[in-house]
Amino acid sequence: MTLQQSRVVDLLASEDLGAKHTVAGWVRTRRDSKGGFSFIEINDGSSLRGLQLVADQELPNYDADVLRLQTGCAIRATGTLVASQGKGQRVELRTTEIEVLGWADPEAYPLQKKRHSFEFLRSIAHLRPRTNTFGAIARVRNAISMAVHRFFQERGFFYIHTPVITGSDCEGAGEMFRVTTFDLDDVPQKDGQADFERDFFARPANLTVSGQLEAEIYALAMGNVYTFGPTFRAENSNTARHLAEFWMVEPEMAFCELDGNVALAEAFLKYVLNQVLDQCEEDMQFFNRWIAPSIIDVLKSVVEKDFERLTYTEALKILAEADVSFEFPVEWGTDLQSEHERYLCEKVFDRPVVLTDYPKEIKPFYMKVNDDGRTVRAMDVLVPKIGEIIGGSQREDDYDTLLGRMKETNLPSDDYWWYLELRRFGSAPHSGFGLGFERLVQFVTGMANIRDVIPFPRTPGNVSF
Ligand code: 4AD
Ligand code: MG
Repeated sequence: MTLQQSRVVDLLASEDLGAKHTVAGWVRTRRDSKGGFSFIEINDGSSLRGLQLVADQELPNYDADVLRLQTGCAIRATGTLVASQGKGQRVELRTTEIEVLGWADPEAYPLQKKRHSFEFLRSIAHLRPRTNTFGAIARVRNAISMAVHRFFQERGFFYIHTPVITGSDCEGAGEMFRVTTFDLDDVPQKDGQADFERDFFARPANLTVSGQLEAEIYALAMGNVYTFGPTFRAENSNTARHLAEFWMVEPEMAFCELDGNVALAEAFLKYVLNQVLDQCEEDMQFFNRWIAPSIIDVLKSVVEKDFERLTYTEALKILAEADVSFEFPVEWGTDLQSEHERYLCEKVFDRPVVLTDYPKEIKPFYMKVNDDGRTVRAMDVLVPKIGEIIGGSQREDDYDTLLGRMKETNLPSDDYWWYLELRRFGSAPHSGFGLGFERLVQFVTGMANIRDVIPFPRTPGNVSF
C-alpha cells in the first residue's frame, strides 16, 4: 500500500485536527526539549512556512535517528495533526513514526541556518531552491506562468508552439547561437568557407531570439494567438537584466493596431500582478519584508493607476530638459538606456510608461512605418526599477514597404520569402509584443539580479548546472 502524502501547505491550513497524516520534506531545524522530546521543522517546498513536528523520546529510533537530525536531512513522518501549544504556529504534527530517507552531513552541507549571499547561492544552484528566497521565487514564478496562460485563454487566444531552432533572425541583430552538428575541429569547406549544405539542416540554423515571426503566421490564420517559450540571445551583456536564455511571452493579434496592442499589454500586466497578489500572499509578504520593502504597495499602485503613454519624441524632450546628468547622452535617434527609462517611470510619472513611435533606425525591420517615414509603430512598456519589460509593435503589412525595410537593414529577403508572402495573400493589420518573463518575475519579487529569478541562469561564461 502506498501512503498518501500530505503537503505542508495544506496541513498548515487544515481545520481537521486529530487527522492522521504522512508528510515528507527536508529538515530546517531541530530543537530538543528537556521534557524528553524534540521539535523538528520541515519544509517540503509547498510553502514558505514549514511544519513543526513533535518527536517524543518514546519513538523507537529517537536516540538513533531523531537526535542526529540536522539541517538538510530528508525525512518522512507520520502523526496526528494537533493544535500547537507553542507560539509561532497554529498546528503541529505529533509524530508516531519518523523515517530518515537521506542524511546531510552538517560539516559538508553548505546551506546552514544563516543568511547566504545571492552570489554564493548562484554557485550552488542545485541546493538554492531549498532556501526561503528561492523557494518563494519558484512558487511566484509558477503562479505568474499560470496567470499568463489564464489571461490569454480567458480571452480566446490560442497557445502556439513556435520553433526553438530557426533559420531566421527575427530581431535582425545577429545575436544568435548557431546550431550545428559540424565537428568544429574539421568543418567541411567550400570555396574557403563553411559548407552549410553539408550541415544537419543543409543551411545555417540558430536558436530562436523570438517566436514572433512564426506567431504572425498563426495570427494571420487564427486571429489571436500567443507563444510562451525559451528564447536565446548571444549578446555579451553582463547586466542584472540580461540572460543568454530567457523566456518570452508573445501575443500576436490579427486585425489589431497599435492602440489595441498597448491596451492588451496594460491589461495583461495588471491581470498578472493581481493574480500574484491574490495567490502568493505569504511569499509576497516575504519579499516585502526581506528583499524589496514596499514592493506590495508598488505592485498595487501599478494595478490601480493608468499607464502613461507618450511618444519617443515626447519622452526625449522630457529627458533633454531633465535636471540630471545621465551617463548616456539623449539625442533623437539613439536608443534609450535603462537609466532614461527608469527616470521616466520613477521620477517623472511614478507609474509604468508606454513609449511609442520610435525612430525606425533603432527598431527591427518588421515594425510598421508611420506616415512620417521616420518613425515606426513600436511600443515599449517601461516599469520602475527594471526599465523595458515589454517590446512590441504593429507589424508592417504592406509588401513593398516591408521589402524596402529588409533591403535597408541588409536582411536577406530570400530567406524570408514566407514572411513576405503573408503580405501578398490576405494581408491584414496585426500587432503583438514580447514580454521578458524573467524581467516580470524580477519586477514582481523585487529581486535585484535576473540571475536569481530563473532556476539555472545562462550568461556569458556561465552554463553550469
Ligand atoms: O524587445 P525585444 O527584443 O522584442 C522582441 O523580441 C519582439 N520580437 C517581441 C514581439 O514583438 N513579439 O524583446 C522583448 C522583451 C524585452 O522587452 C525584454 O523584457 C526581454 O524580452 N528581453 C530580455 N530579457 C532577458 N534577457 C535578455 N537578454 C533580453 N532581451 C530581451
Ligand atoms: Mg526591445
